[in-house]
Order: sequence, then C-alpha cells, then structure tokens
Amino acid sequence: MRFYLDTANLAEIKKAIELGVVEGVTTNPSLVAKEGLNMNEAINVITNIVKVPMFVEVTALESEGMITEGEAFASINKDLVIKLPCTWEGIKACKILSDKNIKVAITLIFSANQALIAARAGASYVAPFVGRLNDISQDGVATLIKDIKEIIDMHKLKVEIVAASVRTPIDVLNCAKAGVDIATVPYNTLVSLLKHPLTDSGLEKFMSDWATIENID
Ligand code: E4P
Repeated sequence: MRFYLDTANLAEIKKAIELGVVEGVTTNPSLVAKEGLNMNEAINVITNIVKVPMFVEVTALESEGMITEGEAFASINKDLVIKLPCTWEGIKACKILSDKNIKVAITLIFSANQALIAARAGASYVAPFVGRLNDISQDGVATLIKDIKEIIDMHKLKVEIVAASVRTPIDVLNCAKAGVDIATVPYNTLVSLLKHPLTDSGLEKFMSDWATIENID
C-alpha cells in the first residue's frame, strides 16, 4: 500500500514529501476552500512545489460542466487526476474523460456497486470513504473496502483503490491488510503512524546510556 497526503496545505505537503514515503496528494473542495484558494490556484501552487500526482475535484454537478472543468485542469497539467463524484452525471463524465486518456478518480464511494460502475466507466481510481462510514457506526474497511477489493480481483478490473477518509492508525492498518493500493491520509494521521511510546522511551534510554560513556575520560 502506498501513501498519499489528503490536504491542500502547502506546509504540510512539503513536510510530508520530505519524509520520502508520500507519493501523491489528494484534495477536495473543502480542503482547498480551507486554504482560501480556488482550484486553479491550488493546482498551480501545489504542482509547482511537488512533482507528485495530484488529485483535484470538479465542482460542477452536470456532466457537461464536469467535462469542461476536467479538461481545463488537465490542460494545466496532464498528470493531474480528475476527481468526479459518484453520481449519474459523474459516471457519464468519467467515461468521456477516460476515453480521452484523462485519468479519473471517482470519489464519495460508499458502496461496492458504486465502485464496480466506476471501474466499468473507465475510472483509474475509486475512492471509498472509510471514516465517514465509521462515523455512522459501520466498519468502513470490513463493510466496504473488502467487498470492493474482492470484486476488483475477481473481475480483474484495471482500477486502483485509493482509500479516503482514513483518519486513524487502525484504519490505515486495516486498509493495508485488506490489500488497498493507496491510502490517502491527513498530515496528523501520517505523523501518528510513526508514534510509539516504546520507541520514545527506548531511544531515551539508549541516549542516556550513551551519554554515560561519552562522559568517561
Ligand atoms: C478524499 O479525497 C477526501 O478528501 C477525504 O479523504 C475525506 O476525508 P474526511 O471524511 O475526513 O473529510
């Protein structure tokens, strides 16, 4: 499983890329608005700084508008992945953009049938939302991710799972165990993945023991 960062915050992106394990950035309208940017500004700012795949979402609700926006984004940078919502209009736009070799991620997926339709419409990625199912007392990995993974494998679909709304270390672990291709995580979640109290106390002991040797002479 690879890691993407789910943010439009440039400082977070820079720090995460420095770690060396973050291979892409995903955004959505809420994340971009939080930074006070419009979509074009977000694309320019982020793609000028980092040369990793960036996912950017359309805001049109009709397929014509989605296609226009998607093509405009792709003309700024051909490596952008266009996020479209999993609606009737989004699926129509997905087929048309995918046929033009523009990479599409279908987002806001909450059922395995939605993921299957998205894959059949040529999506390169499906983005099931784990945390928002957990929020309503469903196990996002057990009830959604596992079914999607099984269907993709069984039908040999050429689509990658980008697990979204992955907010906790246990969600990350369960996504990895379920065979998810990519988990997109907020910066704080990425930080929390490396934290362990025994690592901290172990390092503290190593350093204090080492200091006693350094002090001999
Ligand atoms: C996916 O790309 C979404 O941006 C995101 O993961 C949603 O996460 P949230 O449910 O924590 O808002």
